[in-house]
Order: sequence, then structure tokens, then C-alpha cells
Amino acid sequence: MVRITLDAGTGLRYGRGMDRLTLRRPDDWHLHLRDGAVLAAVAPDSARDFARAIVMPNLVPPVVTGAQAAAYRERIRAVLPAAGFTPLMTLYLTEDTDPEDVVAAHAAGLVTAVKLYPAGATTNSASGVRDFDRVRGVFEAMAGAGIPLLVHGEVTDADIDIFDREAVFIDRVLDPIRRATPGLRVVMEHITTAEAVGYVRADSSGRLGATITVHHLVINRNHILAGGIRPHYYCLPVAKRETHRVALVEAATGGDPRFFLGTDSAPHVDAAKETACGCAGCYTAPVAMPVLAHVFEAAGRLDRLEGFASLAGPAFYGLPVNEDRMTLVKSPEPWSPGARRESADGPVTIFDPGFPLHWRVQPS
Ligand code: DOR
Ligand code: ZN
Repeated sequence: MVRITLDAGTGLRYGRGMDRLTLRRPDDWHLHLRDGAVLAAVAPDSARDFARAIVMPNLVPPVVTGAQAAAYRERIRAVLPAAGFTPLMTLYLTEDTDPEDVVAAHAAGLVTAVKLYPAGATTNSASGVRDFDRVRGVFEAMAGAGIPLLVHGEVTDADIDIFDREAVFIDRVLDPIRRATPGLRVVMEHITTAEAVGYVRADSSGRLGATITVHHLVINRNHILAGGIRPHYYCLPVAKRETHRVALVEAATGGDPRFFLGTDSAPHVDAAKETACGCAGCYTAPVAMPVLAHVFEAAGRLDRLEGFASLAGPAFYGLPVNEDRMTLVKSPEPWSPGARRESADGPVTIFDPGFPLHWRVQPS
């Protein structure tokens, strides 16, 4: 097989016939690692393929202080080999968050960003924000210190249809926040709609980015609801209709560095998913890069996978790109990660993309 160097600057290479792709090692800019037994079971899956991850703070109780973030980082490090994976910690924004604590935790290198959950929007978000005016001072301090605000962009009003909650949030909450604090750097997390893609594209501030998950590039709402209810495809924001999935694929594969990978891999034990009131979250970490290679190849844009997964995120966060490489190999025979990851709290079902996985990460 002949190897061609596409871009010596980034190190991206692929072979003729597209059966091999070497790219800079990727990062995951939105990840749930949980705690305790589930943390121990799932963290190795992310550490195997990703160099760094932005770790979500929605534990019970949430990570709200720099000291709690430091302690959580130690618990993550304790279940992983010493080298090779850097957890980038976040703080959970509440109406009681002290702006000075946030700036100090960031300056001390304990936290990389702050996560905004509207109260009640998703898993463990009860301590989130109800009145956005009460966190204006935190936003101003973050803008001054260049600390990114990571936004779960859904309104929670009972009278807003769940499929409209992201689009309504942009108009009613996000845009007013950004107008009131124009210096604030914002990442719209796990976007699911053409409206969110359009909002990012229309921005000219240079201070707005968006993460896109693996599962939202693959499933639409039919996968959750047609022919039987499938709890392992239920996540928040919920997958929308097919036109939105197509818009997300265009954004992810289009080469615009404002869109980058955040898997939102969100493990829950099966007992919490397969029940009358199941938790939101898809556990994608074990298959994230193979599924992405499939999606980018299907779009004819395998050459843009490195930009999405390895280059655009560090650029937004102002961090260096990773120096080591990952090789993905495509084989005629599909492989499977298995159906579940076992934990001492019970099994966690691994995301099934619904197509055979021919791409696989070559062990390093
Ligand atoms: O599906 C989701 N799961 N969306 C979120 O926003 C939270 C996450 C979780 O923590 O389970
Ligand atoms: Zn999340």
C-alpha cells in the first residue's frame, strides 16, 4: 500500500484505498467519566484513544470548587496509568459560584473551563442556573480571565417542546448572555440542530465554538422511537430529525475549526437506562474514533477527521496540539467492542452505531 502525505504540517497521512489513516492523537472536549466503580470501568476507554479530555462536573454532588476539581482529578488519575492522559477539569456553575474562586482555580491550573447547566436540563443538573442574571458577575470575571463557558444549551420550560429546546435557548438565553458579555468565550456543547450550526457560522467574534458528539452524527430521533423505544439512544439534547443530523455532519466534516469533537460519552449502568424513567446518555467512548472514521469516510472527507478531532479543539482552547499519533486501520472484516463494559455497579451498554465497524484504532 502506498502512503501519501497530505499535509506535512499536521502529520496527516492516508493510504491509497483509504484503508489506513494516521492523525495526531485526538482529544475529547466533552466527556463524562463519573466516579467510583463506573469511573474505574470507563476511564481506560477514553485514555486509550484520547490524549486529553474536558471532564464534566455533574457528579452528585457537583464539582463546584477548585478543591473539589483537584480531588476529582486525583481520583481519575488513580484509576489510570501515570502517563498518557490528561483530564482537563471543569467547574459546575451555580447561582452561588464566587467569581474570584473561578478565576483563582483557573489561574492555579486546576480548572480549564466552567460548565453552565440550566437547572433541570439534564442528568444531575438540579444545582444549575435558574436566573441567569445571578451569574452575570461570574461571566464578566470569566471574560476578563479568558475562561471558556461551556453551555448545555436547552431551555427547561415545560411548555417548550423538547425537540425545540435548543433552538429556543439560543434566542432566549445564549444570545442575550453573549450580547451582555461580549468578551466571553463560549462553547455550545453537543449541538443537535441546524439552528445551532447556523448560529455558530453566523458569528464573527472569534469567541464562539461548538462541540459535536459522535452519536448525533449517526442517529436521528427515529433511532430512539421507531419500532420500539431504545433507551441506549436516548441522550440530551435528544437527537432531532434527519435534516439536523445532516447539518451536523456537514458542520463536522466541513473543515470549519469552530466545530470540534466532544463525544459527550455519558455512561449509565443498564439498570438506570432500561427502566420506566431512564437516564439520558450514550456510552460512546469505546467506539468514538472508529465511528467517526466511518462517518467522515462516508462523507468523502476522511482527510478532515484530524482537523475535527485533533486540531480545532486545541486551537479554540489555546492549547498545543498533541505530538503523538493515532493510526486507524480499515479491515474487510468488521470488529466489535462487545455489547457492554462491566463495572462493579453493573454493566454499561456500549453505543451501537447500527453499522458494522470496519475502522479500528491500531493499538499503540
Ligand atoms: O445525554 C446526556 N447525558 N446529556 C447530558 O447533558 C448529561 C449526560 C449525563 O451526564 O448523563
Ligand atoms: Zn455532557
